[in-house]
Amino acid sequence: MKTEIFNAKTQKENGTQYAGRVIRSGGLVAFPTETVYGLGANGLDGEAVKRIFEAKGRPSDNPLILHVAKKSDVKELWNHVPDDAKRLMDAFWPGPLTLIFVKSDKVPDEVTAGLDTVAVRMPEHKTALALIRAAGVPIAAPSANISGRPSPTEAEHVIADMDGRIDVILDGGPCRVGVESTVLTLVGRPTILRPGGITREMLEQVIGPVEVSPAVLRPLKEGEVAESPGMKHRHYAPDCRVVVAEGSWRKAASIICREYEIAEAMGERCIVLGTEQTRSCYHGMNCDIIGDRETPSSLCAELFSALRRWSGKVDVIFAEAIPAKDQGLAYMNRLLRASGFTVLTD
Ligand code: TXA
Ligand code: MG
Repeated sequence: MKTEIFNAKTQKENGTQYAGRVIRSGGLVAFPTETVYGLGANGLDGEAVKRIFEAKGRPSDNPLILHVAKKSDVKELWNHVPDDAKRLMDAFWPGPLTLIFVKSDKVPDEVTAGLDTVAVRMPEHKTALALIRAAGVPIAAPSANISGRPSPTEAEHVIADMDGRIDVILDGGPCRVGVESTVLTLVGRPTILRPGGITREMLEQVIGPVEVSPAVLRPLKEGEVAESPGMKHRHYAPDCRVVVAEGSWRKAASIICREYEIAEAMGERCIVLGTEQTRSCYHGMNCDIIGDRETPSSLCAELFSALRRWSGKVDVIFAEAIPAKDQGLAYMNRLLRASGFTVLTD
């Protein structure tokens, strides 16, 4: 299959109109959102949705998010719209917040992997919204990577994984947030299943107490049932080891310096994902400064891109843990999963 690539800025009208028709006729389109690139299909067409799973090599038990272009679209996708959802949509949509509630009969089982709930979000990206409007249907879309790899935050990442497997790629440049949306279920007590750009602290200001699923910062235990099927699967893995160092910035940097030296002595190629605060600690070492520890959003924006940059080029990537609060929770969730929970504490 030949994949057509459109520049979302210079070929705006043609690109989104054409891509909208491709979606309507059952094809696959990768498109930018403010979080990561999505791989979209007609969310009301089960056969089209199946193609997403094939193109990604995604386990069929992992449900997808439906993307809408206006808030009122949720009425036809959920069996009803709870008050908490109304408040959250008013506060955070369009934006990086996905809400889960009981699905309506209109939503095909292929989208929800057989669950009776469905995840919906309204992205905050002009091209994404224009595409959904052009398609005239909700767009089912996971991240546009081969399953297991880091999510794509630039069109080049999508091309690397999906060229020849899908119909169209809309190139909208780099994604602002860089990690996927916050996933919040409103079935039972509001619970974060995946942290993201909209933080627990922000949600609690609108609807009161919000729980965080314990599996956000640790692997599932033997026999534990996943609150979200996505928790079961290996995620974000580059083609090399990832090692996380915990503690204050001083502590983390000193662990990394020690382990780097050991790995290098064994002939391993190493890179450190450093921060503004620790830049001087890694003098003379291979280091890629990815952001500022005091501004976790800066680290979120760069993480997946950095993992892809070094994937296959080094044997081991060292990275610093940061406090798991505000957007630091999303950063640590992705980093720990990328490392397969390989953490050094002293
Ligand atoms: O920012 C994002 O959310 C991106 C962009 C493209 O919108 N999309 C994305 O989709 O990250 P995906 O498929 O990679 O992640 C969706 C997550 C998975 O962990 C999945 O298990 C969970 O949401 N999920 C979806 N529907 C669910 C449901 N009904 N119940 C529990 N978890 C659900
Ligand atoms: Mg994904």
